[in-house]
Amino acid sequence: MLITLGIETSCDESAVALLGSEGEVLFHRLSSQIPAHAPYGGVVPELASREHLKALPLLLREALDGAQPQLIAVTTGPGLVGSLLVGIRCAAALAWARSLAFVGVNHLEGHRASPFLSLDGRPARIPPDRVLALVASGGHSSWYLDVGEESRMLARTRDDAAGECLDKVGKVLGLPYPAGPVIDRLARGGDPGRFAFRRPKIRDQSGDFSFSGLKSAAIRLIRAEKIDDTGDEQLRADFAASIEAAVVGQLLDPINGFVREHDPELITLSGGVAANTALRQGLLDAGRRLGIEVLLPEKALTTDNGVMIARAGQLAWARGERHDPRRIDAFSRKIWHPPGMRKILEARR
Ligand code: KG4
Ligand code: ZN
Repeated sequence: MLITLGIETSCDESAVALLGSEGEVLFHRLSSQIPAHAPYGGVVPELASREHLKALPLLLREALDGAQPQLIAVTTGPGLVGSLLVGIRCAAALAWARSLAFVGVNHLEGHRASPFLSLDGRPARIPPDRVLALVASGGHSSWYLDVGEESRMLARTRDDAAGECLDKVGKVLGLPYPAGPVIDRLARGGDPGRFAFRRPKIRDQSGDFSFSGLKSAAIRLIRAEKIDDTGDEQLRADFAASIEAAVVGQLLDPINGFVREHDPELITLSGGVAANTALRQGLLDAGRRLGIEVLLPEKALTTDNGVMIARAGQLAWARGERHDPRRIDAFSRKIWHPPGMRKILEARR
């Protein structure tokens, strides 16, 4: 059995996992840094790298106790370069020292693999040919069309990510970091129709979204209505439900057009914001209305994790990607491969 070790350190979670050759989860562990960053109201990059340095060796020791992986998959980007480098150097050193197969993984490809996985030891589901995928997290908000081995970004945020917008609005509201899950909970008792936020106009047919205008409007509203300084719990719940509805509305807005144009067999959701109750329900409703199956990730796999990186690594390996552990590097931006990596890939084919 080809056992794959997945390592993820792109942001504020140190995570490792072991998968069997069919994508069945044999082991997974995650060390969250939320308590370290909470006092600052957001992720502090330098602190994140140091926390990875502390956590990752312990997680790896536990994962490798008695296990002999043959393939190592590690996130190479996009993400915080200092954090990525901790995972990459650990993974590369292991691969080099043990002469193991090695592959670098795009973090967003990892997220898109997560709906196909389960934590109960079952093999991973094989994706159909045409998958329409929404990834929404604290750093990214994009729609993709995956056709076989080809992947295309259909739409993306022009500024803030969906989770980032919720986190920043929540911070002004006085909520703890990260505010996304707290807004989700507050919103359950609220009226999403109480405050109307205008949809930004993007003057093309791209389906792109923009969350920074929504963020500013929500912050102005908090100050005008003193929502951060009120004992009126219903007002806070109504505000949470309204901002959540605005974010979900924007994310799901292009779905009809994408389905009409690309005729997908399956629609998936992933990323940290995929834990959101209204977004999950909204996508399920859209799928039912459009007659297309919707696949949601298990809640535990919505946040950054090693399982999704191991699986994306297996799939990359199966389509022939191989990387040199001595030459692998991190990339911070939302590009598909680090500069030079394609050349390495080609040279090694
Ligand atoms: O994927 P993730 O763990 O890290 C990034 O790659 O960004 O996503 C974290 C983001 C945060 O912005 C957090 O507030 C948001 O996901 N989030 C949620 C929920 N759970 C996490 N947003 C809305 N509702 C939730 N239930
Ligand atoms: Zn992520």
